[in-house]
Amino acid sequence: MSASQTVPSPNGVAEPTAEPRAFVSCRRTGLVYQGADGGEVIALTDLDLDIAEGEFVSLVGPSGCGKTTLLKIMGDLLAPTAGSVEIDGFSPRQLRERQRIGQVFQSAELLPWKSIADNLVLLAKLSGKTVPREQTEAMAETLGLQDFLHRYPHELSGGMQQRAAIGRALLLDPALLLMDEPFGALDEITREKLNMELQRIWSEHRKTVVFVTHSLSEAAFLSDRVVVLSGRPGRLVADVRIDAPRLRTTEYRFSSEMAEVVARLHGALTGEGEAS
Ligand SMILES: Nc1ncnc2c1ncn2[C@@H]1O[C@H](COP(=O)(O)OP(=O)(O)OP(=O)(O)O)[C@@H](O)[C@H]1O
Ligand SMILES: [Mg+2]
Repeated sequence: MSASQTVPSPNGVAEPTAEPRAFVSCRRTGLVYQGADGGEVIALTDLDLDIAEGEFVSLVGPSGCGKTTLLKIMGDLLAPTAGSVEIDGFSPRQLRERQRIGQVFQSAELLPWKSIADNLVLLAKLSGKTVPREQTEAMAETLGLQDFLHRYPHELSGGMQQRAAIGRALLLDPALLLMDEPFGALDEITREKLNMELQRIWSEHRKTVVFVTHSLSEAAFLSDRVVVLSGRPGRLVADVRIDAPRLRTTEYRFSSEMAEVVARLHGALTGEGEAS
């Protein structure tokens, strides 16, 4: 279910509309947590968001505005308490049952007693998929981990472990890849390198990615669109499209073009700039 929407033309032939059909569609999505003391926390409210297939969308917003909550709803770790989320025509539950959601978190969460090769195929295996050895090796090559397949997580740096976590999610062949601050714990140079690698991997695999970050430059560098949420409860305050061509380079990262995007995102976050 990936084709663009079509409309009949005057001569009866279907023509694509300008807007592709949404792959991820959030409609008036909201979530209220019930606290242990009986109190309520409104984490997310009335969120309308469409994401096209193959699009790389980042979510930015102040701490506590509901970014992780939204990712958890998309990944079926939480059910929305208002509105709906649909992904490729399925509910998050249906998509997860079909093993088509990949997730990467701030810490890699590899199993320490398993080799990198075993960690890479772990989720795919758990979901009943067989991953041929050549495929694991090709993924390791893509991730620059080909010489570490027999090593264990503690023998790898934090950045290498994160790459393994990305590979583990990609070997599931997910329809949707959810990434929650995957490079948040890394130093800036390692983060920039992994941004480059993620961009390259994304351009090869063209997964739909929803990426949460606190770094505006990371969001501006990686994304087709950056969605800015307000402070709690999270609402969409800006939706910024970034048209810079792929593959983006280090030169782009330090260009006035990208600086303008970052300034615009900063303005939207602080309420001091135009909203979109
Ligand atoms: N299990 C929970 N029970 C009650 N409240 C929660 C729970 N999880 C999150 N919250 C609250 O919901 C709000 C949104 O949390 P969430 O983790 O989605 O924010 P976030 O945007 O990811 O923040 P950060 O940038 O710090 O990761 C916060 O106010 C948080 O305290
Ligand atoms: Mg979070």
